[in-house]
Amino acid sequence: LRRNLKAAGKGDDGIAHVHVIGAGAMGAEIAAWSAMQGKRVTIEDVKLDPLGATIRRATKIYEKKHLKSIEKRDALDRLMPDPQGLGRARADLVIEAAPEKLELKEKIYASLADVMKPGAILATNTSSLKLADLVSAAPDAKRFAGLHFFNPVSQMPLVEVVSHKKASADTLDRLAAFTTGVDRLPARVKDYPGFLVNRVLAPYLMEAMVMLDEGYSKEEIDRAALTFGMPMGPVTLADQVGLDICLEVANSMQNGLETPVADTPAWLPEKVEKGETGKKAGKGLYDYDSETPPDTP
Ligand code: 3HC
Repeated sequence: LRRNLKAAGKGDDGIAHVHVIGAGAMGAEIAAWSAMQGKRVTIEDVKLDPLGATIRRATKIYEKKHLKSIEKRDALDRLMPDPQGLGRARADLVIEAAPEKLELKEKIYASLADVMKPGAILATNTSSLKLADLVSAAPDAKRFAGLHFFNPVSQMPLVEVVSHKKASADTLDRLAAFTTGVDRLPARVKDYPGFLVNRVLAPYLMEAMVMLDEGYSKEEIDRAALTFGMPMGPVTLADQVGLDICLEVANSMQNGLETPVADTPAWLPEKVEKGETGKKAGKGLYDYDSETPPDTP
């Protein structure tokens, strides 16, 4: 499978410079990883703090990957915080990793028209919005597609290259080649609720929440999954992914599939509303001040 996926991404991507819009968890990791793999990367955000956090996150990833100090320095040199978004006009690939709000993404795409370099590709890291709903706002439908990374980017080999009716074959080929070029495996998928991975993952995470309602404890559910051989339990994973993201993905599958799956418990939107969105908030299904999720069977 790995060989087939790699072969699907062979070829010249023609992408030397990547510009990332949005320095949240995903944007920052995508930027850090792409810079480590030799791409020139600019990253913008509406706030300055996440840009500083991106550099700290990148440094941590490079240390974990045991880069030599010269390699670390070179990778950090390639990663440029760009609060003014100057990279938009210079990049061969713009990756939008903004929050999952349709109007916000549409606004960003509108601001890219007449700015992006001729031939440059716009890719979205969305996990819950339909490309069919976003494409009309893209500067060029042919050069727009999905590029869906998984968290943590430095540890998760797969990237979904998401097509839609108007995407050109050249765009999809270049995105697959880019994915291989940054040492990830491209899985070519269609614009479908949950794409491939979340179609499987979201019902699994939601079922763990249904089990909480049935009276099983978080620790019991997580320990059972760990004993089975999963790298982390589904309750911990839901907190890592973010309950807000889990809810958005589950909603897209509730609304978009003929036979809806991933039933969400009634308390989930309330928890998200309260800001208890998981590990990033210090509280989600676990309370990270007082509880430690099990990590060994
Ligand atoms: N989201 C955010 N952070 C995550 C995460 C996730 N899904 N999974 C793990 N992490 C974090 C860990 O907390 C840790 O953070 P730290 O460095 O700040 O302590 C870091 O990633 C990596 O942990 P380790 O260095 O201990 O990594 P290991 O070498 O032990 O690798 C692993 C662990 C490979 C990440 C393993 O735990 C794993 O496979 N976890 C499941 C990850 C997963 O399923 N990701 C997909 C999520 S779905 C998604 O991203 C798509 C979106 O559309 C919903």
